[in-house]
Amino acid sequence: MALLEVQNLRVRFETHHGVVRAVDGVSFSLEEGETLGLVGESGSGKSVTNLALLGLIPSPPGVVEADRVLFEGRDLLTLNERELRSIRGNRISMIFQDPMTSMNPLLTIERQLTEVLCLHKGLSRREARKKAIAGLGDVGIPSPEKRIDQYPHQLSGGMRQRVMIAMGLLCEPRLLLADEPTTALDVTIQAQVLELMKALQHKHGTAIILVTHDLGVVAGMSDRIHVMYAGKLVETASTSDLFQLPLHPYTKGLLGSIPTLHSDPNEDLDSIPGAPPDLAALPPGCSFEPRCAWKAERCSKERPERLTLTQPSSGAVRTSACFEVQRLLRPTQSGVTQ
Ligand SMILES: Nc1ncnc2c1ncn2[C@@H]1O[C@H](COP(=O)(O)OP(=O)(O)OP(=O)(O)O)[C@@H](O)[C@H]1O
Ligand SMILES: [Mg+2]
Repeated sequence: MALLEVQNLRVRFETHHGVVRAVDGVSFSLEEGETLGLVGESGSGKSVTNLALLGLIPSPPGVVEADRVLFEGRDLLTLNERELRSIRGNRISMIFQDPMTSMNPLLTIERQLTEVLCLHKGLSRREARKKAIAGLGDVGIPSPEKRIDQYPHQLSGGMRQRVMIAMGLLCEPRLLLADEPTTALDVTIQAQVLELMKALQHKHGTAIILVTHDLGVVAGMSDRIHVMYAGKLVETASTSDLFQLPLHPYTKGLLGSIPTLHSDPNEDLDSIPGAPPDLAALPPGCSFEPRCAWKAERCSKERPERLTLTQPSSGAVRTSACFEVQRLLRPTQSGVTQ
């Protein structure tokens, strides 16, 4: 049984401008110890997907629906707030884009870090403090034995980010949702944090969903990559297959925007022309059609489903939601499994 199985997840926001379909029928599963990279332009629904898994979408305006979201065999969407709270920060932990959203400004760093250790892991205050100090040291915080008694506002933004990462890793979760975990950090600390995440995974079989704009980081960390566009997964594949042969025009565009040693530093990295569609007024056909270099007549009229395909050269099984790709590579089965 997969550690996490998400079937047909949908999140919409009912706003004054209309209904924003931020996540629109996302399905995937994740095995123990696996790292899933989630990539896509700003606004494609990556953070909303992760927040929805944890029951953290504000309602109103948000409405979350799914056929099921099974974690360790339990449907997260059917749990009440108390049950969810016992899973969050314990079985599933998260590292968010904005550290202040997951910190309580009124509590010292010690209180934030040790609560979960005392509550869920049964450690004494002294043991928990010792472990928390070690955790702060692991993420590169100097003098952790002093920092641990400070409040969040006494730390710089980069320090807070690292405290949040330490908090996410200390409870040794089964699943770590890491949403741009290292973006605000300098390169050395970033590498250190990624190594820590890998070590945690190796030791405890933690599964990771890693959201990042940095395709280099995704390539180095992920077993599989999911590409998200306008609330939908448009392509999924193993990391090496995806980089070798993207099977969706959007993925191809994203990969084309990776800087190389020879690229002009002044060139705009965003090489895909146009902008993502308004999620409150999606086009009737494929959401990517207005920007697509591969488009055919059908694409502006019908919405492509993501189908499982077999790559003839390698036999690799992957999925793509592009009519043109599906025309060239015959789907192996109807519907989507991954
Ligand atoms: N509370 C909310 N009310 C209305 N719309 C929202 C709300 N939260 C998110 N959205 C919308 O949902 C869509 C998806 O947002 P999301 O934050 O998931 O994007 P993202 O892929 O994480 O982008 P980024 O890479 O910039 O972090 C966006 O259009 C966003 O405006
Ligand atoms: Mg985000």
